[in-house]
Amino acid sequence: MTILITGAAGFIGANFVLDWLAQCDEPVVNLDKLTYAGNLETLTSLDGDARHIFVHGDIGDSELVASLLAQHQPRAVLNFAAESHVDRSIHSPEDFIQTNIVGTFRLLESVRAYWNQLEAEAKAAFRFLHVSTDEVYGSLSATDPAFTETHRYEPNSPYSASKAASDHLVRAYHHTYGLPVLTTNCSNNYGPYHFPEKLIPLMIVNALAGKALPVYGDGMQVRDWLYVKDHCSAIRRVLEAGRLGEVYNVGGWNEKPNIEIVNTVCALLDEMRPQADGTSYRTQITTVKDRPGHDRRYAIDAGKIERELGWKPAETFASGIRKTVQWYLANAEWVANVQSGAYRDWVQTQYAKEDVLQ
Ligand code: NAD
Ligand code: DAU
Repeated sequence: MTILITGAAGFIGANFVLDWLAQCDEPVVNLDKLTYAGNLETLTSLDGDARHIFVHGDIGDSELVASLLAQHQPRAVLNFAAESHVDRSIHSPEDFIQTNIVGTFRLLESVRAYWNQLEAEAKAAFRFLHVSTDEVYGSLSATDPAFTETHRYEPNSPYSASKAASDHLVRAYHHTYGLPVLTTNCSNNYGPYHFPEKLIPLMIVNALAGKALPVYGDGMQVRDWLYVKDHCSAIRRVLEAGRLGEVYNVGGWNEKPNIEIVNTVCALLDEMRPQADGTSYRTQITTVKDRPGHDRRYAIDAGKIERELGWKPAETFASGIRKTVQWYLANAEWVANVQSGAYRDWVQTQYAKEDVLQ
């Protein structure tokens, strides 16, 4: 048996593959376009491991996806591939429409054609799992209850609108064609291999570099943080036991204002990598112009996945953020290669000669 994962050179997908292959021997075909966010250096521990088959390509390339499905006959397709950064979607939304909407549509079409011709048993066992976000539900006030799976869709950024569109397509392919889909809507992840454009890794790397720590607006926007390995275990559980056509919200029960996150990162760095002159990293915090249309608060009610599938996060925020800061301190080379862009050259030297890049 094999699974096909899209976007698994990115932050969550790569963590998922590393965890999956640490726990079982079922091979993974990893289809990734290697945008700026795709980093195969994250997966170097799998070099030479026949269980990981990397394919360089786009989920919207129907011919390529059809040939991969025919060749590897996966029992499941997990769609992590996306443009994922809200700020980038505000500056240039086009790529978000192409990958998150058109790409997901084409992937669904390729998967539908493959699934339709499977034998009855394989057809019944097949799953398409779509990885989505809590941002599709819009923004909460301070007193609103957390998002449940029945909360109406109110996306506010080009990113969340494009993810919302993809969720609707996935839903429609179940209702119209019977495609056996599962959707997860997760809150903010953090942990190892997070690209330093997102809040937590940006604060860690900027603090260590002596740069400003840019906090948008008043810093009181609330996010619900989940350690990435917990997101991965939730996806494994939904794949294993989720009810067809259902949506599962995934979150860490960890609502925190951004400024508290930044202060926590600074406090951990003060403890683990104190500055020579005794100054706190907090002195680098700077307030900057707010993100346009900035959602004030996200909060996930993860009660359904706990009740139905018995999933709960293993990490508290205190344990997860400590591990994360430790990871960044121990992996300065990974960070440096991301910052210099060397991770992209590395792909060529490592893979071109072996002809695994298509
Ligand atoms: P990421 O930006 O780190 O990685 C995305 C990956 O997708 C990259 O490797 C990129 O090369 C690849 N990709 C982009 N366009 C592609 C295309 N057209 N074809 C094939 N590959 C393509 O993103 P992430 O943070 O790992 O997020 C993964 C998924 O989880 C996304 O769907 C995102 O919406 C969702 N999500 C993320 C978070 C979070 O906090 N990061 C939370 C909830 C849901
Ligand atoms: O909620 C899930 C979503 O979380 C995912 O779907 C997205 O893919 C992921 O990028 C993330 O979106 P956010 O916009 O919440 O994450 P980001 O790390 O960009 O920002 C987190 C909060 O921190 C947000 O309120 C904006 C703020 N921020 C961010 C950056 C990069 C700052 O104050 N300063 C910054 O420099």
